[in-house]
Amino acid sequence: MKPTAFLSDDPILLGKIIERGGVVVFPTETVYGIGASSLNFDACRRIYQIKNRPSDNPLIAHFANIEQIRKYCVVSQESLLLLETFSPGPLTLVLEKKNDSIFPPDRKTIAVRIPSHPAAMKLIEASGVPISAPSANLSGKPSFTRKKDVIECFQNLVDGILLADDPEIGIESTVVDMTKSNPILLRPGKTSEIDLRSIIPHLVLPSLQIPNENRNDLTELVPESPGMKYRHYSPEAKVVLLDEEEFLNLVYRNQPGNTITLESVFSRKKIGFIGFGFSPIHKWDRILATNEDYMKELYSFFVDADKLNLDICYCEIPKDGPDKYALMNRLEKAKNK
Ligand code: TXA
Ligand code: MG
Repeated sequence: MKPTAFLSDDPILLGKIIERGGVVVFPTETVYGIGASSLNFDACRRIYQIKNRPSDNPLIAHFANIEQIRKYCVVSQESLLLLETFSPGPLTLVLEKKNDSIFPPDRKTIAVRIPSHPAAMKLIEASGVPISAPSANLSGKPSFTRKKDVIECFQNLVDGILLADDPEIGIESTVVDMTKSNPILLRPGKTSEIDLRSIIPHLVLPSLQIPNENRNDLTELVPESPGMKYRHYSPEAKVVLLDEEEFLNLVYRNQPGNTITLESVFSRKKIGFIGFGFSPIHKWDRILATNEDYMKELYSFFVDADKLNLDICYCEIPKDGPDKYALMNRLEKAKNK
């Protein structure tokens, strides 16, 4: 069957589709997005149908520059400083809306970001409007980070797909709510809380299950973002988190020819591994060098796990240091379905 979507590497042509009310899948530096004009509410609502997304979970609007954000949102001095420091890039701010001309019409606040992926920037500029776009995935499933996955999933569901380099980061943007007296980190991402605290020292973190006792003093309970109550990022397989020793032990016990093989042979479960510096057993296992690799590989590992009908994904706990917090957030969500 011929795909119904127009596949092209030309952001100008795809920008026209957005301008005329179409829905377009495009890469950003974090993950792929599925977007429509933020000024066309019917087009935005179509995204919810395509993704089967709960209607009370609002979309992020993607802008070309700070001036365009100012047209629709109240930008405080602090928010401006954050945007000037971290945008374009993987940071989303929840701001107060100036009026109801922009989606979502039923909220006083809106999440905004300026993506740094060159093709995404050209698409927004070409469309002439902000683009409301959640991650391009079916609701509850891992976000897509590879061209072939978005084409396979969306080529008969949307009007266009922008073909360009795949996302470099691999997990969704950091989301900070700037509408409260203390800014709240609603979703951790590549822009870390340490980066953010250099501008907003009074940032409040959500409670997060992370096995790091040093973090307890930073952690406070905060209200949930609309998106936080939904299941996210989960493959069908059971996700099991293991520390380095447990992980390497299990890899060892599952090496072919080993007589004390555990899950795979004993219980006939189909399993996969993602972790640091080990000898792979299956062609779908992912060997990582850094937490950055982990962010880049995690979702495509989960997507492959679904395609391969894996029963269990064994995931090593990320290395201490940068990006661990964001990775643990996604891993815990994938685990707790
Ligand atoms: O990296 C990303 O942010 C990707 C790319 C495509 O830009 N987009 C993305 O969108 O991850 P989505 O819809 O999957 O996640 C948006 C998150 C949700 O958790 C949503 O609840 C929250 O942002 N959000 C959106 N608008 C909000 C608002 N007005 N107040 C609070 N949270 C909001
Ligand atoms: Mg999403």
